[in-house]
Amino acid sequence: MFLLLAVSSCAAPRSDDEPDGRGCTSTADCLGRMTLREKAGQMNQVSTATIKDKPQDLATYGVGSVLSAVGGSPTGTGGTAAQWADMVDGYQRQALKNRLGIPLLHGVDAVHGHNMVQGTTLFPQHIGMGATRDPDLVRRAEDITRQEVLGTGIRWAFAPCVCVPRDDRWGRTYEGYGEDPSIVSPLGAAAVRGLQGPRPGKDEVMATAKHFVGDGGTTFGTGDNGYLIDRGDSRMSEADLRKVHLPAFRAAVDAGVGSVMVTYSSWNGKKVHGDRYLITDVLKKELGFHGIVISDFAGVREIKGSGYADQVVRAVDAGIDMIMDPSRYKATIDAIVQGVRDGRIPSSRVDDAVRRILDAKFSLDLFKHPYADRGYAKNIGSPAHRAVAREAVRRSQVLLKNEGGALPLPRTGTYKIAVGGDADDLGLQLGGWSVSWQGHKGRTTTGTTLWQALRKTTAGTGISVRNVGAATSGDYSADVGIWVGGERPYAEGHGDSADLALGGDNARQLSALCARVKVCVAVLYSGRPLIITDQLPEVDAFVASWLPGTEAEGITDALFGKGFSGRLPVSWPKAVADEPINAGDGKKALFPQGYGISPY
Ligand code: GLC
Repeated sequence: MFLLLAVSSCAAPRSDDEPDGRGCTSTADCLGRMTLREKAGQMNQVSTATIKDKPQDLATYGVGSVLSAVGGSPTGTGGTAAQWADMVDGYQRQALKNRLGIPLLHGVDAVHGHNMVQGTTLFPQHIGMGATRDPDLVRRAEDITRQEVLGTGIRWAFAPCVCVPRDDRWGRTYEGYGEDPSIVSPLGAAAVRGLQGPRPGKDEVMATAKHFVGDGGTTFGTGDNGYLIDRGDSRMSEADLRKVHLPAFRAAVDAGVGSVMVTYSSWNGKKVHGDRYLITDVLKKELGFHGIVISDFAGVREIKGSGYADQVVRAVDAGIDMIMDPSRYKATIDAIVQGVRDGRIPSSRVDDAVRRILDAKFSLDLFKHPYADRGYAKNIGSPAHRAVAREAVRRSQVLLKNEGGALPLPRTGTYKIAVGGDADDLGLQLGGWSVSWQGHKGRTTTGTTLWQALRKTTAGTGISVRNVGAATSGDYSADVGIWVGGERPYAEGHGDSADLALGGDNARQLSALCARVKVCVAVLYSGRPLIITDQLPEVDAFVASWLPGTEAEGITDALFGKGFSGRLPVSWPKAVADEPINAGDGKKALFPQGYGISPY
């Protein structure tokens, strides 16, 4: 629970690296001693991809926070937990040289595990966790993520996305738990509890409910930034916005979420980053949110305005407390200071923003514990953590078809299995936000591919298994065929799709494999429903595997007898022309939301 503690003013004992004696010791004490420029400094979150060239600026400008996103890892992309912890501590050491010794708050996109770091446990992407419908499983998964994030010294995770994806053509569909707030709200709240842990303090990672509000409800074709639908316009009444997209934020706030990130998208033509009614009147006043409202990455730059300084003033005046911008911290500070001096930003607004930021830092006990707790590092990617991810994988699998008793596959026997497609590609089963922003195919981190899981499951059983890969049109036959394939990794608008197509190669490989075996099983890796209407008749069993993460033994557990319990968190369309398609809209889905068979 993230309680904004009324912080005691006990002097924090300081480690050797920190200036002794001169630091401020409570929110009130800090606020009372800070200059306007220092306050404006705290309202910045800067990318480590930029600040790495001038880390001394962290203290010089009193920067409040950094994030490690694209290019911001210790080695540019990826890196081990130890390298991350050293990087995080290095920036902290620099930042603590600021006049009042205010510690830096370091953030990262830990959205399905500590996914930017190599060797960590990666869980199914949110859409797969939505298929489990299990808040306690989500909490357990996020509690493990909390521990692995703490092992690298990071204290702020930009998760959970509590978006409600209504059009599956959106590239961020997989970041949502489902198409209905009744699915998203309890899972989002559980994620907050898991990430923030049982109590405020040094063992807590601040969660972020994102992206406020309506990012999953944009109209296809209104996308910004060159995208088809991402960052588009949510064209709906306030009643519909409140009915579909607000409940999950209310649930996250009630769960004590420490921060909320604003959406790039617009509501009825107005960028939410500049919408004071939504941010201040609805989120802060009506929902009673007392944590940090942070912009999205350079999101302030998309507000309609006359230059960057004007955009900053509009964002802060709307209620944004921290500006996430990769590099413009000096211009941001100048804009806030000048905005106050010009009377465009009330000084009380700046004090409110900085109070929220300092309260968070005291609640996280950052003043007393500013450096990585290396004690957590030993369990990063541990067998115990991976076992929970394996359970989550199995329970996220949705069985859409199973005819002729195709499944379960016998655990023993002398039958032959031929595997085709991309069964041995770890990057494909991870999806985006995995080691890199967009993710990519190949062995990008530590994990078990489905091919490796099949080898382990059949070892010593008499079952023979071979992987024909993409060469499914070759000269072979088998009793059982397992085709594995799906979407290439993507993130955000890069995944926006006009056709939700399975793709010609996938279709051809699946057909060729099924033509050479007696029983044919398809396992689809995708961040959302794809159009599989033509493929369904060709297979005896079809599994929606989503983007399962590093532990593919969860898939073989389901295939070989432990059963399927997943239920569709979104409606599955017959054709892309049916999008957007959601329960209750009167359209007939190929498989309705909630569908999933459990034959054993
Ligand atoms: C991205 C995403 C947001 C993420 C942030 C930092 O553009 O919209 O979800 O947390 O920037 O990487």
